[in-house]
Amino acid sequence: MTLPSKMSALIQCHDGYASGGDRDMPKDLTGLVELAEVPLPEVGPGQALVKVARAAVNPSDLMFVAGLYGQPRVKGAPAGFEGVGEVVAGDTPLLGQRVSFFGSGSGTWAEYALTDAKQMIPLRPDLKDEDAAGLIVNPMTAMAMFGIAREDGAESFLFTAGGSQLGKFMIGLGKDHGLAPIPVVRRAEQVEDLRALGAAEVLVTSQDDFKEKAAEVIKARGPRVLLDAVADQISADLFFAMPKGARWITYGRLATKPPVLREMGQFIFMDKRIEGFWLSQWMREAGVEKLGKAVTDVQARFATGAWSTDISATLPLNEALETSAQALAVKDAKLLIAS
Ligand SMILES: NC(=O)c1ccc[n+]([C@@H]2O[C@H](COP(=O)([O-])OP(=O)(O)OC[C@H]3O[C@@H](n4cnc5c(N)ncnc54)[C@H](OP(=O)(O)O)[C@@H]3O)[C@@H](O)[C@H]2O)c1
Repeated sequence: MTLPSKMSALIQCHDGYASGGDRDMPKDLTGLVELAEVPLPEVGPGQALVKVARAAVNPSDLMFVAGLYGQPRVKGAPAGFEGVGEVVAGDTPLLGQRVSFFGSGSGTWAEYALTDAKQMIPLRPDLKDEDAAGLIVNPMTAMAMFGIAREDGAESFLFTAGGSQLGKFMIGLGKDHGLAPIPVVRRAEQVEDLRALGAAEVLVTSQDDFKEKAAEVIKARGPRVLLDAVADQISADLFFAMPKGARWITYGRLATKPPVLREMGQFIFMDKRIEGFWLSQWMREAGVEKLGKAVTDVQARFATGAWSTDISATLPLNEALETSAQALAVKDAKLLIAS
């Protein structure tokens, strides 16, 4: 295949981390990335080049381009962590195949992206590009964290940002494996949909009786794992209301104000723990067998319809900047970028 020497990409406007100022999740891509013609990335040893079909816009991408993620930005480099596309170059048996991948060598919000040749996921033909574009970050995290909750042996589990894409995946897993999912959300209008997906209970933080309802549900169902994407005072209060041996596994910090820990004695006398979860670390440590099973299970769930990705819009690279604000304002759905 003849490859071009240049490509279009949404490149980062800043270097390093944000200093002070607004710590909120960006609501718009303007000022954070810009459309540019850049040289096609060169394939190095152990790498493969993918012609991107679709790329996901996840909260981690938004935090990254805003300088709020755990890795520094590189001005002029394409943004975007994950996507789906066809392998067009590299020393790999997957040449010509459709894969889901991390843009570990260069970002996925571009016509082409570089990835680690050993970490590409060859796809089942019955998997839609819309699901494959975001096959790794949220689905693999849901699988991994659900595994943690399951291994803990409780009959139910609590999770915040319960109406997020990831939250909806965890509801499906809980329902199908007999572990009662209890999502925590801000908006009451999400309750019905989450119930329909299989939530055993839904706790709504904006309701006046939230504290009483949470105490009641925790007493009745005894969840011992809190999977937390928010990390605010509500998360802390839920954790301290949970029974002996409870684990607070924090995997996101959507809240801007951190919580105050008021019950330090619980760490001494109730064997409670606070932990972190980061998919990149989990994938490094999981081992081939566990990782392979997770990849197979994730694809099977999408292919059979047990999971699906709710999409707000699929924007071409050259329109993403103008319309990202509108697409990002849509609740409960994911923005994709098409190359
Ligand atoms: N650690 C890891 O390895 C890892 C991997 C994957 C994902 N994550 C994290 O998982 C989370 C969910 O990702 P996603 O792609 O599924 O998200 P998403 O579909 O974009 O949804 C975001 C959700 O977060 C909620 N939210 C935002 N700010 C909030 C706040 N201050 N308090 C309470 N809820 C808030 C939103 O609720 P409203 O609808 O009410 O606005 C929405 O339901 C993100 O934090 C992401 O960074 C972490």
